Amino acid sequence: MSQDLGERSFYPRRGRVSKRHLDALHRLYPVLGVPAAPLSAGELFGRHADVVVEIGSGMGEATVAMAAADPGRDHIAVEVHPPGVGNLLAMAEETGLRNLRVHDGDAVEFLARHVPPDALAEIRVFFPDPWPKARHHKRRLIRPANVALLRSRLRPGGVLHCATDWPQYAEVMMEVLGGDPQLRNLHDGAAPRPEWRPVTKFEERAVRAGRPVTDLRFTRVPVRHGRLISVASLPGVEAHMKHRPLPFALPAYLVLTLALGGVVWWLLYTGSHEASQVAWYCYGSECSTDDFRGAMPVIGGILAVPLAAAAWPLLRGAAPGVSLLVAAAAVWTGFTDAIRDYGVTEDSVVGWRIAALVVGGLAAVQAVVAFASALRTSGVGNAWRGRRSAAGRVHRYENPHDAKGPAVVSFMDAFETRHDVPVTVRRELVGRPVTVWYDPTSPQDSTRVSVGEPQWSMVGRSRDQVHTRLRELLPVPEDHRPEPASDEEDGATGPVDLAGQLDRLAALHRRGDLTDAEFSAAKRRLLG
Ligand SMILES: C[S@@+](CC[C@H](N)C(=O)[O-])C[C@H]1O[C@@H](n2cnc3c(N)ncnc32)[C@H](O)[C@@H]1O
Repeated sequence: MSQDLGERSFYPRRGRVSKRHLDALHRLYPVLGVPAAPLSAGELFGRHADVVVEIGSGMGEATVAMAAADPGRDHIAVEVHPPGVGNLLAMAEETGLRNLRVHDGDAVEFLARHVPPDALAEIRVFFPDPWPKARHHKRRLIRPANVALLRSRLRPGGVLHCATDWPQYAEVMMEVLGGDPQLRNLHDGAAPRPEWRPVTKFEERAVRAGRPVTDLRFTRVPVRHGRLISVASLPGVEAHMKHRPLPFALPAYLVLTLALGGVVWWLLYTGSHEASQVAWYCYGSECSTDDFRGAMPVIGGILAVPLAAAAWPLLRGAAPGVSLLVAAAAVWTGFTDAIRDYGVTEDSVVGWRIAALVVGGLAAVQAVVAFASALRTSGVGNAWRGRRSAAGRVHRYENPHDAKGPAVVSFMDAFETRHDVPVTVRRELVGRPVTVWYDPTSPQDSTRVSVGEPQWSMVGRSRDQVHTRLRELLPVPEDHRPEPASDEEDGATGPVDLAGQLDRLAALHRRGDLTDAEFSAAKRRLLG
């Protein structure tokens, strides 16, 4: 596996495993254990229910009691200590619980490698090892990188519940959880102690020693929009993304669009329909009227602009076209009905009707083209075919002079396994973060991999920052790196040498191995 998961939060403990626990491990793990393989909770539990993961279930007594009291949800305990796993398995068998399974292993590894993003309703970390010595703090389970991982495995709205009896660790937890932009505290400070959590040996000991127990409950903030394409699908890339949330939720834009659309239609339709009924007073070249119907077309035309703005979050690039189409259709219908209702002659309104037809036609074309392009970049078609998206980088673009050519796209699938797949891509996708759509059942299959642009207008802050992060996470494999030409070999010196180095830099940039910023910086360094 290519991803470094950092310091482990435990020392492998060697201790005697009792006969009872050994027997349970051998006999029951194949039945009640969760294998180190992609998690499908539906298959595991034989139903589709919310899934709760508890990290570090210890000897498992509390876990069994909590699962028994919560039959509507499925519980997975993850523990590295074999006697604890054995004890929990034995108790699960005794109690006959159908909603409890256990994974024997490191929870960080389990979540990173085997649990897909957005899969869990709740993650519990009760009394994790506090690692009180300063030199051991790096081993603490609750640290930013692990929290980002845990949060990514929660579905939006899911809950991360931590409890500790170490006041200093509680402060750190509050800082780390509060520092994650996609987590929100469900309480004002610490949460009340949940009545449903049985008192474990650790909690009992803390209470006896007079240490306060702190509970923290945070929820993953639902991302309301702007995540049609997840460039942020790699852990660590998210930190570099700045989501620019819309000030209101999408339904508010729908209501505003419908209301404004109605007003624009009413103003333009009525203004055109009643135009022949308005009395205008003209003095020289200036005409005026005190009839509001005379001003309606102008106001309607002006309001078409806020209509496009209100529709933008819903229709994106198609919004201006749709807004103009509404306006043009209102004018056309207004004048057409005026011919019928007021006996207005066709000749007198022919200019207006042709203008409405032309504007409406152009607007319709704009809307259709923009809609088709939005559909393409949003990957709706790919999502339909069951493809998943991931952030990736294109490198080894072999024909920098052609608009399209063979290259390699690197990405990590939902289980954080890296894939380097040969693809044919457009040149403009080289050297920038891309969205890769792949078939989760065969991510390596190049015929099922497509590469496209992310929707930067929605999620991107700095392409270079994200690309640099992607380059760290997805380094170009050794055998893909171009051989550095030696100066002695080609006998170049002085300015020729410089030109050669510049050429090599440019070639690396074209292949996608250097970002724009890295290329500019290296060029500046070379040129002094
Ligand atoms: C202090 S005990 C608390 C046990 C239990 N939650 C309780 O309250 O009784 C912490 C437990 O977490 C387990 N643990 C530590 N790091 C872990 C990891 N990365 N994955 C799974 N279990 C872990 C340890 O083996 C230990 O059993």
